Amino acid sequence: MTAVEAENLTILYEGKPALSDVTFRLDEGKTLLLLGPNGAGKTTLLKTIACFHREYRGKLLVFGRDPCDARHLIGYVPQSSSLNERVPLTALEVVAMGGLYRRGFVHFKISEEILRKAEEVLTFVGLGHVKDRLFRELSGGQKQRVLLARALMSDPKLLLLDEPLSALDPSARAEVTNVLSKIKSEKNVTMIITTHDINPLLEIGDLVMLINKRLIAFGRPEEVLTDGVIKSVYGPLAKVIPVGGKLYCITGDFHLHRDRGGGL
Ligand SMILES: Nc1ncnc2c1ncn2[C@@H]1O[C@H](COP(=O)(O)OP(=O)(O)O)[C@@H](O)[C@H]1O
Ligand SMILES: [Mg+2]
Repeated sequence: MTAVEAENLTILYEGKPALSDVTFRLDEGKTLLLLGPNGAGKTTLLKTIACFHREYRGKLLVFGRDPCDARHLIGYVPQSSSLNERVPLTALEVVAMGGLYRRGFVHFKISEEILRKAEEVLTFVGLGHVKDRLFRELSGGQKQRVLLARALMSDPKLLLLDEPLSALDPSARAEVTNVLSKIKSEKNVTMIITTHDINPLLEIGDLVMLINKRLIAFGRPEEVLTDGVIKSVYGPLAKVIPVGGKLYCITGDFHLHRDRGGGL
């Protein structure tokens, strides 16, 4: 089955296009890496697929339905969690919160059943031992794994992850990447993962989409990640280097250059 299908999709904010004319098809069970510089439209595309943003033209189907009719099939992990860390929630409670929204209903009481499931999912991401620790006291990698666990509580068929590795140091990145690999191999879930730095995720991506206000390229990593394509988005210094049969992308730090150019 097709998990996500877009045809000539243009997404707008107050009438102005942020991402134009995107066509692609993602089959169920595949992992798509969504790559593009800052402001390219990555979050915009994720939010539209998740039915958080509704202003678009063209065709967009999630499991053959309007995105808003597929919400119960979707798990969404936002880039920076809107979780208020002043509220002293334990890791287990944060995960359990993911079980409170089901089929559009909000249940206010955390049942035994939800707590049991939350513990199971927390163990799945390797954090059973910190279930009673306060979320705000966990390391960056642990927090991101808790948020992944929270999204898994509703057994999503489509998991949307917005820059799950940003702001993490290399060892925390490896922690989160390992959990993403585990989700991919053990759960029958389709994933779309946005990222600035594609390299830590290349192993788990079946497909890569490169966007920059419009679709630049979509296909298997070896088709999309070519010098020509990468340079067209990230500038002449960007390149793709094959290392031991794998690809490594050097895209530089787009923000720094842009911010400097913008005259801070
Ligand atoms: N709520 C909004 N209202 C108006 N414009 C927005 C809004 N959110 C994002 N944009 C614009 O849409 C474009 C894409 O943004 P975004 O999807 O956040 O990019 P990315 O996630 O790739 O960094 C940017 O030009 C941004 O300014
Ligand atoms: Mg973004």
